[in-house]
Amino acid sequence: MAPTVVILAAGRGTRMRSRTPKLAHELCGRPLLAWPLEAARTAGAGRIVVVVGPDGPPVADLGADVELAVQQAALGTADAVAAAAGQLARDATVIVLAGDVPLVDASLLADLVAAHRAPATVVTALLDDPRGYGRIVRGPQGGVDRIVETKVESDASADELAIREVNTGIYAFDGAALLDALPQVGTANAQGERYLTDVVAVLRGRGDPVDALLAADPAVVMGVNDRVQLAAVRAEAQRRIHERHMLAGVTIVEPASTTIDVAVAIGEDSVVEPCTQLLGVTRVGAGATLGPHATVLDAVIGDGASIIHSHLVGCEVGERATVGPFAYLRPGTVLLEGAKAGTFVEIKNSNIGAGAKVPHLSYVGDADVGERTNLGAGTITANYDGAHKHRTTIGARVHGGVHTSFVAPVAVGDDAWTAAGSVVTADVPPGALAVARARQRNVERYAERRSGS
Ligand code: UD1
Ligand code: CA
Repeated sequence: MAPTVVILAAGRGTRMRSRTPKLAHELCGRPLLAWPLEAARTAGAGRIVVVVGPDGPPVADLGADVELAVQQAALGTADAVAAAAGQLARDATVIVLAGDVPLVDASLLADLVAAHRAPATVVTALLDDPRGYGRIVRGPQGGVDRIVETKVESDASADELAIREVNTGIYAFDGAALLDALPQVGTANAQGERYLTDVVAVLRGRGDPVDALLAADPAVVMGVNDRVQLAAVRAEAQRRIHERHMLAGVTIVEPASTTIDVAVAIGEDSVVEPCTQLLGVTRVGAGATLGPHATVLDAVIGDGASIIHSHLVGCEVGERATVGPFAYLRPGTVLLEGAKAGTFVEIKNSNIGAGAKVPHLSYVGDADVGERTNLGAGTITANYDGAHKHRTTIGARVHGGVHTSFVAPVAVGDDAWTAAGSVVTADVPPGALAVARARQRNVERYAERRSGS
């Protein structure tokens, strides 16, 4: 029978000092709680039970495969597991995970299930700095005798505090042993809480062995109690994400200044230049250049595209299209193949045709621009009349003069031209030149007249 995974997510997270529930804090593009959930799913959990507080889940949409158990008050980790007791079968293997230990992965859980023989198996880690973690006290046979909590240091002796092997908060239990031991866990500790770690002493007291599985990689056990630890976990999670991409053929020129969220996909031979952030569900094709200094959120970037010094949100950049330096592409922007959004250019909710160019100093909003059209420097679509947004439709191979304003709604035919400085308020037929500006008048001898001579 596939194991039941219980994820503890009802704690108050007071050490975060936050109005946001701790497990809703973000780690590389996902809330903390989504990390152990993903590990449980990938490891093939039969059932997943998330223990939440009376206010409900810290994160909406945990997934249809998740069962909730409610812990009415945060009275400790044993009390939290007890809140799920009704959902635990005596003959099931029960894996308990802490919601705030995000780097746990499916392979560690698989190792745990494989190693689990005694009624309880605790995943442990050797840390150079074990402060704050529960310490593992081993018995003469090498099994686990008890776990000593150290959140309040007076709970532990100096010898116990010197132990470097810690409890990761990841356990496997035989359902029956866990269900029988939980009611016997008391509150005799400095916090007056019911500690899940005391299940170990209860089991030992009735003669059951408890095993330890020492995690080879101590980082998978890093817990997040405060924002200092969140930053440490983020650094480690980010290092792993970078490594995964680099091994898959992506060049990351300067990992230390590069942020890549966990769900981002990047094709082979793409190069991520320094000071670049690839965020959300961004997908990048092969052979693209991203950065330096690019922020790309929830965007699709085609093969061979180039994004330099730019900010992109919710847009699509086609194959070999170029963006920047200093462009801002907002939601609903689609640059087709080979198109260009150049310097100091903002584009929103617009389609820019294949090979079309918006090279300099422009705002294009709510527009459709045909293929191979070139908009002159300083082109503006006046898309908003104060009450409503309107579209501008510009055909293919249009030559826009510099400083053209298109006052929407307006349509420009294929192969049309606009004169520099035009304010285009009426449709332009295909092939026509629109001149929409005052004719020039020269005042002769103006300088002479001013000086009164
Ligand atoms: C816990 C362990 C400690 C271990 C560490 C590893 C206990 C008593 N101690 O300490 O041995 O080294 O994890 O990270 O278990 N929670 C509830 N309800 C509660 C209390 C907590 O759901 O009443 C949840 C929290 O949301 C959190 C998890 O349980 O996700 C762990 O609780 P926390 O208070 O953070 O325990 P630690 O002090 O980290
Ligand atoms: Ca914790």
